[in-house]
Amino acid sequence: MAKKKVQKRSAKGFADVLIGLQYGDEGKARIVDMLAKDYDVIARFNGGANAGHTIETKDGGKVALQQVPSGIFYPKKILYIGSGCVVNVEKLAIEIEKLENIKGVKVDLTNRLRISCQASVIQPHHLLIDAETGKTIGTTKNGIGPCYADKALRMDGERLLNIKLGDLLDDPQEYFKKIKANYLAVCGKYGIDHAHADNIIATMESFFNRIKEYIEPDTLFLEKKVQKGAKILFEGAQSIMLDITKGSVPYVTSSNTVTAAAYVGGDLSPNYHRKTIGVAKAIMSRVGYGPFASEFGGERSEKYCMATEGGKSKHPQPVEAKYDIEKLLKSGDYFDIGVALRVLSHEYGTVTARPRRVGILDLVQLAYAIRMNGVDELMINKCDMLNVFARTKRGVLPIVNGYTLDGREIDYVPGTVKAYYSVKAKVEYKKCFDSDVSGVRKFGKLPKELQGLLREIESFCGCKIAGVGVGPEREQFVKV
Ligand code: GDP
Ligand code: IMO
Ligand code: MG
Repeated sequence: MAKKKVQKRSAKGFADVLIGLQYGDEGKARIVDMLAKDYDVIARFNGGANAGHTIETKDGGKVALQQVPSGIFYPKKILYIGSGCVVNVEKLAIEIEKLENIKGVKVDLTNRLRISCQASVIQPHHLLIDAETGKTIGTTKNGIGPCYADKALRMDGERLLNIKLGDLLDDPQEYFKKIKANYLAVCGKYGIDHAHADNIIATMESFFNRIKEYIEPDTLFLEKKVQKGAKILFEGAQSIMLDITKGSVPYVTSSNTVTAAAYVGGDLSPNYHRKTIGVAKAIMSRVGYGPFASEFGGERSEKYCMATEGGKSKHPQPVEAKYDIEKLLKSGDYFDIGVALRVLSHEYGTVTARPRRVGILDLVQLAYAIRMNGVDELMINKCDMLNVFARTKRGVLPIVNGYTLDGREIDYVPGTVKAYYSVKAKVEYKKCFDSDVSGVRKFGKLPKELQGLLREIESFCGCKIAGVGVGPEREQFVKV
């Protein structure tokens, strides 16, 4: 056999990793959409349909992506779903069809979308288990936790639990039989009627047939591209605070979301890492249960936002939208200000439509996320929303820049929820600007109060701000 030359790190190819720095929904997708033109491949490395990544299109339309990477509007870019993701074949087939039918934009994913054959499949029993057990966390009910749990368990006696897309390609008959066995076992455990098992499996198989052309058997797919000089942008789903190890456990998702995870779930060697881009937003949000030190209205807001009736949110957008927003803003109660901010800044779940809990920008949490992940460049979205504070009774802009725990100052996010729920956030009030910044495109043209705040964030977090979102559209952005 001819001797192969030892492969060296390519001089030109590299990878950058983009991650969410707060509790998800920081506006990662709009940044990916903006940066994608400078890359060859946009790749997901974690999560699945629990992600809701919004891009506002030129004609005012909105696209909410769940599993397809956010580079869709650039026809020549490869979109890759890595082995660290968990794939819902039915939702993916429907998502692809929707994308290929967006009015006025030609999106063709043939030969562009590649999915690792090692990505685990969300099986029908994962959805059943999540529906039964996910309520106390407030999951998105996409079967994410049960699927990753099965991946870790591997087998239950003779029963194979972790089934990968490649398995279904190798031998559909055998592996769909295994999926059915898993389904029946879980129905038995929870006393669920399994009369429709055959239908459910047949439906899954028909959706699988629609996506199987996208499965990539070459486990060196990305590596070979980078060797030839390709530039990869890894698109993180969820966020640092939702990481299964580093986040506010157990109120987290079930994958690793940190920078380093891109080089496990994204099927590329860490040798190629160039930089990490972190995305935050100026008014924070969280959906689901769990500690949130700077939440407007604290525990009351957590309970209110998570309240459901007949499986649906008790406080959906159409109801809250009818409230007297100016009156809420003038209230002395932070809870009311939070409701107003949620309505004004459209903070309702992309995947679940739940009201998102909203909070003051927390610099202690942000600095922690940046240090933990070696963030090189910081993007801050939703700066256009900060002028809303000028309409409050005090007319000042609140920022959290200190934590105390049991009377002691700390400069980190506690590692247990008990401690995190006990943290007292120190709020500082800044002078607020009242102008509309959504039309501003140059840093020097931003109000001086906002410029000052951004400089303060840089120095508090020890990280350069590379860009500022001043509206949801691609052009509504200030590069710094
Ligand atoms: P992702 O999951 O991190 O991609 O974020 P989502 O798409 O779930 O939520 C972010 C929401 O904020 C979307 O509706 C975006 O259109 C919107 N958004 C992003 N950046 C900005 C911004 O700078 N200003 C405003 N007003 N909205 C923004
Ligand atoms: P993007 O990528 C915000 C939250 C859920 C729940 C917890 C566990 O759009 O930022 P899961 O279904 O993953 O088992 O739910 O994590 N969560 C998110 N919150 N943005 C997301 O994704 C999220 N994905 C999961 O609300 O609290
Ligand atoms: Mg989202």
